[in-house]
Amino acid sequence: MSGFLGVTTYAVGLISLFTAFSYYGIPQLVPEPPPAKENSTGTMTTEELVAMGSRIYARACVLCHSGVGDRAPKLDAIGTVWRERTRDVRYRGSARTLEDYLRESMLEPSAYVVSGFGKPGTNDAESPMPAAATGAMALSASEINAVIGYLQSMAGDKVTVTLLPDPVDRAKPSAPASEPSVAAKAPDAISALRKFQCDVCHALPKFPVEEGEQRPGPDLRGIWKTAGHRVDGMDAKGFISESILFPNKKLAQGFEPDLMPNDYGDQMLVAELQLIVDYLAQEH
Ligand code: HEC
Ligand code: HEC
Repeated sequence: MSGFLGVTTYAVGLISLFTAFSYYGIPQLVPEPPPAKENSTGTMTTEELVAMGSRIYARACVLCHSGVGDRAPKLDAIGTVWRERTRDVRYRGSARTLEDYLRESMLEPSAYVVSGFGKPGTNDAESPMPAAATGAMALSASEINAVIGYLQSMAGDKVTVTLLPDPVDRAKPSAPASEPSVAAKAPDAISALRKFQCDVCHALPKFPVEEGEQRPGPDLRGIWKTAGHRVDGMDAKGFISESILFPNKKLAQGFEPDLMPNDYGDQMLVAELQLIVDYLAQEH
């Protein structure tokens, strides 16, 4: 834990931290762990597959499917509701099993849009859920299978998926060959923002954003202009780091509390926070 930011230690003074950076530099305290590959091949038991799916789910899906803030439907009854979905006149997919339905929901979220959860103005024709194989989530086929296995097991259904022999159909053109593990240090700001999936909820400078796309959190592309004027006596970097570590302290206008994860202080390395803060505070 020593190299991770503890929120308590951290609360002592955000502004002094940045002063400390420039005066002494903060050494990287944690030795870099070897990157763990989430989808190495080989024989995995069903339990291991489900456990892997559960980790991916916690990282990529809980953000929206937590039941907090009505951003996305809860998935706890998916084992039964999927049949009704596929019989609905609005259903445009081809799923015949729970496995199919889950895969389809992840790869083509708009094949069926749960009533009331569509993108605003589309009359539930378009899903706001990003496709899981591309963009911000960019899960490999094996990772998608693992998540399906986890959700099948949560639903009390038989786990019908296995890991694929090799991540052949990875839809990650720009990703490095090995998956960065949760613990591996992000080398630059873009990787750090991806690692913590900030882009799932925020439009960010130089990240692809579709015209008219709605994300659950505020657009951060212009925050470098405003961050220094939000709280008296706090500069842009101070404000941005406080917003990341203590999201509920000063809410962005028009947003509810508890939507943004509040444990980044426990997950991030000092160096990663610094990369992200510098990036967002710099002119784009
Ligand atoms: C940015 C928010 C967001 C993220 C991240 C997200 N989802 Fe969703 N998801 C939604 C929304 C909103 C809906 C409802 C609209 C729809 O049906 O497409 C939905 C619908 C679904 C459904 C269909 C639910 C039903 O009752 O028919 C499944 C299954 C699902 N998501 C699985 C996942 C999985 C698995 C992940 C992670 C790999 C994930 N989602 C990540 C927002 C999200
Ligand atoms: C699950 C969605 C979600 C994720 C993931 C998320 N945020 Fe947020 N973020 C929000 C919401 C919603 C708000 C607005 C409410 C608030 O201020 O806490 C917000 C607010 C912010 C603000 C303050 C914006 C302002 O104008 O006041 C910053 C800065 C920020 N987030 C940065 C980040 C960074 C960096 C990450 C990744 C390390 C991240 N967020 C991850 C949802 C999210």
